[in-house]
Amino acid sequence: MTNPLQNKRIILGVTGSIAAYKAADLASKLTQNGALVDVILTEYAVRFIAPLTFQSVTGRKAYTESDLWGGEGHVTHVGLGHNADLVLIAPVSANTLMRLANGSGDNLLCLTALASHCPLVLAPAMDVGMYSHPATQKNVEILKERGAWFIGPASGHLASGLVGPGRFVEPLEIMNTVRWILAKNGPLAGRKIVVTAGGTQEAIDPVRLITNRSSGTQGYAVAQSAIDAGADVTLITAPTSLQTPIGCTVIQVKNAAEMFAAVKSETKSADGLIMAAAVSDFRPASISSQKIKKSDTHLQLDLEPTADILLETAKERAISGFPKFVVGFAAESQDLLTNAKSKLERKKLDLIVANDINAPDSGFEVNTNRVTFLYPDGSHQDMPLMEKTQVADKIIDQIIQWMGNPE
Ligand code: CTP
Repeated sequence: MTNPLQNKRIILGVTGSIAAYKAADLASKLTQNGALVDVILTEYAVRFIAPLTFQSVTGRKAYTESDLWGGEGHVTHVGLGHNADLVLIAPVSANTLMRLANGSGDNLLCLTALASHCPLVLAPAMDVGMYSHPATQKNVEILKERGAWFIGPASGHLASGLVGPGRFVEPLEIMNTVRWILAKNGPLAGRKIVVTAGGTQEAIDPVRLITNRSSGTQGYAVAQSAIDAGADVTLITAPTSLQTPIGCTVIQVKNAAEMFAAVKSETKSADGLIMAAAVSDFRPASISSQKIKKSDTHLQLDLEPTADILLETAKERAISGFPKFVVGFAAESQDLLTNAKSKLERKKLDLIVANDINAPDSGFEVNTNRVTFLYPDGSHQDMPLMEKTQVADKIIDQIIQWMGNPE
């Protein structure tokens, strides 16, 4: 699965707002992620930031008002608009919202938006009073009805010193929202994919818990890859320090029982389940309601087994047929293939992704993984050392293939 931003032609409109300086970071991020970014600055945007800044980060011409009647002739806007995969105006001012809502074509940016046939994405930034003004709200409503996407504004401290809605959403979030919008018609469009991630936590007392070294990186990468393929993704996640991907439903859980309940209800009609979470196999038989006090004697913890989520899912699947495809992981410290094969069979998986956790460049706390894919027909495929994002792409590619050839 390729990143949906790759080689996409994005018009980045920048209007007169103090947040215009953040648009340079946005242009840089979009470019670094493979997009071809043509920037159009309005007359007022140029008062806040120079076209040269954008040209330097995109490596492409940044257009200004003078280009409307300038060197490339008056069809600049038509060419830009027609060729665009997406028009993003960030920051969009109250004034430009008004022009767009009215279909006005009195500057290069609005003319380009009028001439385009692609998604229009708007990230407002203005003072709270301007945003909440009924005139602006009416324009927002008109544009939403017409199918424009809005990113923000966020609430927070504004340049005026006031606090409220009007803040420009952070460039990374805008970029990832654009990534999601561009992915919508991908090969998994209309398919529901459930992904689990992170290491579950089992409480001992109000302070202490039992967990494992899973960072959630691999599962989050799988969720992102499924979003990139246009799937309707639900990410069931144990606590991690990771930023949740944009464009999926996130269900936060703590322990194995909560994860089991969430998987059970979410996979009822799911096309695929990818269990990347490291689920606790045991939990304290009882949780102390008070903090356990220090003492000189040994402390014995009585642990009971948790449900094996994949095993239970296999039973449900035998009755309902859902989820259609199930992928498990096997983190092993010895006898990698034998152990993984036995899990694949026992849990009735379509694919198990096995990794040797003893390898320094694979498994926990690193961004790379060296995995083997094992299939129920007895075949297996050794993958070279890859980024976890690449492993995720391979898994999703396999699901795309299955969806294209359902049994
Ligand atoms: N798994 C699960 N429910 C559990 C434990 C694990 O669904 N209670 C899933 C994991 O998400 C993973 C697969 O089963 O996709 C294998 O997990 P792993 O920890 O490698 O194996 P276990 O079955 O727990 O066996 P062992 O710990 O003995 O290796």
